[in-house]
Amino acid sequence: MKTVSQISELRAQVKTWRQQGLTVAFVPTMGNLHAGHISLVAEAHKHADKIVASIFVNPMQFGVNEDIENYPRTMINDQQKLTAAGTDLLFTPSPDIIYPKGLAKQSFVEVPNISDGYCGESRPGHFRGVATIVCKLFNLVQPDVACFGLKDYQQVQVIQRMVVDLSMPITIMPVATIREESGLALSSRNGYLTAEEKAIAPALHQSLHWLGEQISAGYAQQDSIDFIGLAKQAAKTINDAGLHTDYLHVCHAQTLQPASEDDTQLVILAAAHCGKARLIDNLQVKLA
Ligand code: PAF
Repeated sequence: MKTVSQISELRAQVKTWRQQGLTVAFVPTMGNLHAGHISLVAEAHKHADKIVASIFVNPMQFGVNEDIENYPRTMINDQQKLTAAGTDLLFTPSPDIIYPKGLAKQSFVEVPNISDGYCGESRPGHFRGVATIVCKLFNLVQPDVACFGLKDYQQVQVIQRMVVDLSMPITIMPVATIREESGLALSSRNGYLTAEEKAIAPALHQSLHWLGEQISAGYAQQDSIDFIGLAKQAAKTINDAGLHTDYLHVCHAQTLQPASEDDTQLVILAAAHCGKARLIDNLQVKLA
């Protein structure tokens, strides 16, 4: 695997592949890679001849109170993992290459509505930062396909909407969440959990499961489903386990609007604090 940090090197390599008629898949990351990221590379292999990954801890998507300085940086390990997974090219730009005029003067991409609630509400500006960096990286790499993990369900929807709204000729491949045996979704943020916190963290996933089952059972029995009441019960279970729920909502799987009786494609979105870590998870519920 070749690692480049300059835009000109990245463009030159992709241009060569294009001239050879090869297709390109892209896996953007912020590093500190785990099996979830590697599953994105595995998915990318199914869709293109060459795989480009990026590692860039994007300052634009971190809030003022979020500790970007201490975000784990593990470049050597990450390079080894990406090499083993068969990545062809790794792009590792520095912030001044991506944002040469600084963040205050940077143009940005905002994807309305879908960015507003849930993580968008708890982390103001977060999805503007995500959409802007992903748009920039798409312009630099110009992939045919890009892979994103479904653990960040709202992020996937924001990116899918951006690609449609801005007519980007890129197929977005959502990839299933990889979990520990306990059910805890893999995340770079799990590294912040103590052993005790790790023992209670699976309560998040378990409660989403419980809620999904209640919804499916209610639908099967043709009962009217109290999405809000059930979500409150699930949040209480999470809090009783020792986490602190930030939000937990049952939503339409594409619009992310609160679920209504007629919806059959649902997603439960949740975030909860566990010690220093803010964990997010989701569960898709297909009723028909
Ligand atoms: O999911 C992530 O790691 C980041 O939000 C992404 C998509 C790489 C943009 O910085």
